[in-house]
Amino acid sequence: MISQRKRFKAGELVFREGQSGDCAYIIESGRIEIFIGDDDNPVTLTHLGEGEIFGEMSVIDGSPRSASARAIEPCELVLVSSEAISERIDSADPIVRLLISMLLTRMRQANQSATGGPKIVQPEPAGILTDEGGEGQTQKVLEKMRIESELKQALVSNEFMLHFQPIMDLQKGRISGFEALIRWNSPTRGLVRPDIFMGIAEETSLIVPIGKWVIEKSAEALKVLNHRYRQSHPEDEDLFMSINISGRQFHDDEFFSHLEGAIAQAGVKTSQIKLEVTERIFMEGPSALQAINRCRDMGFHVALDDFGTGYSSLSYLAQFQVDSLKVDQSFIRSMLQDEKTFVITNAIIAMANGLGIPVIAEGIEIEKEHRVLVGMECRFAQGYLFSRPIPLGDALNYVSISNDFAETVNAS
Ligand code: C2E
Ligand code: CMP
Ligand code: CA
Ligand code: CA
Repeated sequence: MISQRKRFKAGELVFREGQSGDCAYIIESGRIEIFIGDDDNPVTLTHLGEGEIFGEMSVIDGSPRSASARAIEPCELVLVSSEAISERIDSADPIVRLLISMLLTRMRQANQSATGGPKIVQPEPAGILTDEGGEGQTQKVLEKMRIESELKQALVSNEFMLHFQPIMDLQKGRISGFEALIRWNSPTRGLVRPDIFMGIAEETSLIVPIGKWVIEKSAEALKVLNHRYRQSHPEDEDLFMSINISGRQFHDDEFFSHLEGAIAQAGVKTSQIKLEVTERIFMEGPSALQAINRCRDMGFHVALDDFGTGYSSLSYLAQFQVDSLKVDQSFIRSMLQDEKTFVITNAIIAMANGLGIPVIAEGIEIEKEHRVLVGMECRFAQGYLFSRPIPLGDALNYVSISNDFAETVNAS
């Protein structure tokens, strides 16, 4: 913070209520009276001493000074620039900003009622949130807080369930595993999309218990799915389960011990579990590398999800050892219409194959996309063409009847 000092004599006014505020003050020495109302009839709100800060409210949200400040003995004050405060406010979490904005409004209302009602009609505060879209923005933040609180309850009330989407092995022409995808059936909201609520869970520590639940349930499901599959396909390899892991889960001290325990408890092998992480994890630096290596050392497979979106950098593939790469659905969706996307998709698959990393293509909806991907020597595929994500009961039927791949595709 840039600081500048100023001295005030006893009785001298620092600022008056209603003025615009361009800085806050830290009291280095002396005492300050904060009061409201005119000089003939002042109402003292508080006395402040060494080490305390005042004049911050108008700097935080651009409103006029909510009270006057006067030195009641000789004072030395350090000026805190408005930029030093606003930069921090602007970069704060929207929920924190909303809470501060509400507190400031309440504080001003309380001050006004202390003097028997509004003396100065203050303009609407410029607002901490209002400058970014007003009421709509506030409602968005409140909605996020509501969902966060409901998510906690959802875990206790068993409102989550998992759906499983088959992943096909294009080379062997059969199912090879599933991806576990969480669903939230809220009693008040109905089905909520995971990209909405998991995004909120990821911003908070809620991702940790929800993530644990996903690991336990998907490992248990894999046990029964694999058992059912092996009854009709005794010669085939075991099925695998892909589980989405958010970077924040790795920060939990118990993550690895819980993962190991849950897999052992379910009675499946670590090699049957693919942990899907997105490229975002690489932004976390060396700790991400350590986490990925530790998973692989424990025998888990690690897949790089949503490859080609956002932070893709080919250098990651050289630095980080991954067992498979999932080409994002956006490529599959437009590769047949857009020549450049076609070339890029082909190049990603060729490059991964060259590095010995099998590719899973996501979001295959039509037969032509499937054929093209086979031509590109893409090893695995997942999409509505084969099956949407389905509940465990349906997934059990799916593995019993899915003999060969052509049948599955034709049936859809
Ligand atoms: P994702 O990991 O990329 O999952 C694939 C998404 O694509 C799923 O959406 C799936 O239903 C959808 N999808 C699959 N095939 C097709 C297709 O052919 N066409 C179209 N249009 N979509 C297809 P879903 O289930 O809504 O999940 C969205 C995202 O939510 C996931 O994206 C993942 O990022 C997150 N998510 C879901 N479950 C979990 C979880 O258990 N843990 C974590 N951390 N994230 C999860
Ligand atoms: P600001 O509104 O910028 O200018 C007046 C300052 O007085 C305000 O910031 C706070 O720092 C302080 N202030 C306002 N109301 C109170 C109160 N009720 N109690 C203590 N300090 C207050
Ligand atoms: Ca995924
Ligand atoms: Ca994906």
